[in-house]
Amino acid sequence: MKAAIVTRYGSPDVVKMLDAPKPTAAAGEVLIRVHAATVNRTDCGELRAHPFFMRFFYGIRRPRRTIFGLDFAGKVEAAGAGAISFKPGDRVFGMCPSTSNGAHAEYVCVPERAVEAMPAGMRFDEAVVCEGAFYANAVLKRIDLKSGHRILIYGASGAIGTAMVQLAKTSGAVVTAVVATRHLELVKSLGADRAIDYTCGDFTRMGETFDFVVDAVGKTSFFQCRKLLKPGGVFAATDLGPWGQNLVLALWSSLTRSNRVVIPAPGRINGFVGFLRNRMETGKFRAIVDRRFAFAAIADAYRYVESGQKVGIVVIDVAGAGEVAAAPTQTTPATVGRGGS
Ligand SMILES: NC(=O)c1ccc[n+]([C@@H]2O[C@H](COP(=O)([O-])OP(=O)(O)OC[C@H]3O[C@@H](n4cnc5c(N)ncnc54)[C@H](OP(=O)(O)O)[C@@H]3O)[C@@H](O)[C@H]2O)c1
Repeated sequence: MKAAIVTRYGSPDVVKMLDAPKPTAAAGEVLIRVHAATVNRTDCGELRAHPFFMRFFYGIRRPRRTIFGLDFAGKVEAAGAGAISFKPGDRVFGMCPSTSNGAHAEYVCVPERAVEAMPAGMRFDEAVVCEGAFYANAVLKRIDLKSGHRILIYGASGAIGTAMVQLAKTSGAVVTAVVATRHLELVKSLGADRAIDYTCGDFTRMGETFDFVVDAVGKTSFFQCRKLLKPGGVFAATDLGPWGQNLVLALWSSLTRSNRVVIPAPGRINGFVGFLRNRMETGKFRAIVDRRFAFAAIADAYRYVESGQKVGIVVIDVAGAGEVAAAPTQTTPATVGRGGS
């Protein structure tokens, strides 16, 4: 099979399109013919082994796995022993564990628990949305966002931000999204109650306070945003921040039990894909697709994602012929309904 192979850390130039052995589904796994994948900030972090300490997870001198890619959407090719939820031809999506080879390949094997049937009528490029939503959900769970809470999401136009606006709205929170001018209409369409343009003055002087301020893109800081927090309010970040300050502040908050600054760690994939499927099926969550790249141009996709300018997700058309964005010609009925709440 064709795969985007990475044998050493570095720039997108180290990503090579090569032939690799087609994997075989082990017990409890499903072999999937990948139709769409994404390149996202997690893949970029793995490519450059950034931040440095992530080498303890990715591999000290070189990446432990040679095929990256978290998100996938495709068709089931075969199921391993004991994997009973899917049959060949089922249209599925989900998230590859980072411990084994990922979805930047024509075929991938994924544990059955990280696979769900695609909602009926959904295109492959609309289903590769797990990465941003996974981290967004980790933040909202950690701060225990509830109906009526007021939350400000800074950098709401990225993969995590667009997902967080949608997930926060379904929690019943009052959402203020801070984005550049060109994204104001987008975040309103995702449900934001208020959209603020960070290019038109200091957003921290809006004269409102919030239960939670989330930096979804690593471009602001606790010190800049603390005047936006209500007493007892929490600043959450998805990034370490300038000079790793969020990590230091989160450690201090934990030691002093003030809970003022948190960097939520993503939990396990288990159950998350079903949770998202349920949101997509009920129209509460949708993909925001920025650009689509041919599989052969995956290094260019890395370059674009590294620019920090993408809006939502960047899709890789693994199966080719622009097929990821085509409406399904035949909808395979979902064989399982393991969708979470
Ligand atoms: N915790 C984890 O394990 C984990 C995993 C993945 C990602 N991350 C981190 O989470 C952050 C967000 O990831 P992502 O995938 O959502 O990012 P992304 O999709 O690359 O975000 C890009 C968006 O941010 C906007 N942006 C750029 N500069 C901005 C600024 N100064 N203020 C506000 N918005 C700005 C860009 O639009 P404009 O330029 O038009 O404003 C663009 O729409 C990144 O820092 C990433 O490293 C953490």
